[in-house]
Amino acid sequence: MADEETNIGGSGINRRNFLKSAGVVVTGSTLGSGLTLATGTAAEKEAPAAAAKGAAVMSPGGASLVTAKLKVNGKDYKVQIEPHWTLQRTLQFKLGLTGAKQMCDRGVCGSCTVIMDGRAVLSCTTLAVECEGKEIETVEGIASNKKWDPLIKSYCKWDAMQCGYCTPGFVVSAKALLDKNPNPSENDCKQALAGNICCCGTYPRHPTAIMEAAQVIKGGA
Ligand code: FES
Ligand code: FES
Repeated sequence: MADEETNIGGSGINRRNFLKSAGVVVTGSTLGSGLTLATGTAAEKEAPAAAAKGAAVMSPGGASLVTAKLKVNGKDYKVQIEPHWTLQRTLQFKLGLTGAKQMCDRGVCGSCTVIMDGRAVLSCTTLAVECEGKEIETVEGIASNKKWDPLIKSYCKWDAMQCGYCTPGFVVSAKALLDKNPNPSENDCKQALAGNICCCGTYPRHPTAIMEAAQVIKGGA
């Protein structure tokens, strides 16, 4: 195509080759960063020792790292992160907790919901460094606590999910509701879930699943 063969700025680089090489760079850097985050680079592994010696601790990209102390699902963690990292990013890439999903990354969909000090919060708009001294609970913690089995089972029974991407956020919001209100009405459920968006449109099933779980948790069914 003529457009793809355009000589960009007379540089001898045509559009097709430029896009191909840009794609390689973007893919490479994305993969590189994913591997870095998932496994920790040598620099990151050496960071605590470097900090102890008073040396500046830097990320592989050259940014200063800070230590964030987090308490998640009852366990204490100390992680080296860049200061701008969100709680969602830190949970996913430093602690391997993938339940809090990044969907919109701007505080509108609720997929990244966690509970912090008893309140449902959006982990994509919360900086990890703000969370020191707070108790954080994720869907993994809820799912591993027998008390909340009825909530998970009720979600499955009522098929309150399709692709499932948003579901952990809904379950966390539901648990935050039940912590405060063990006998919610349909309207209470709708209000508690008002910040959660489901692209698959599973909305009508959630209050049913939550209200039935509430009865089982109370020992009424
Ligand atoms: S990813 Fe956090 S609100 Fe959408
Ligand atoms: S089940 Fe697919 S986005 Fe909610």
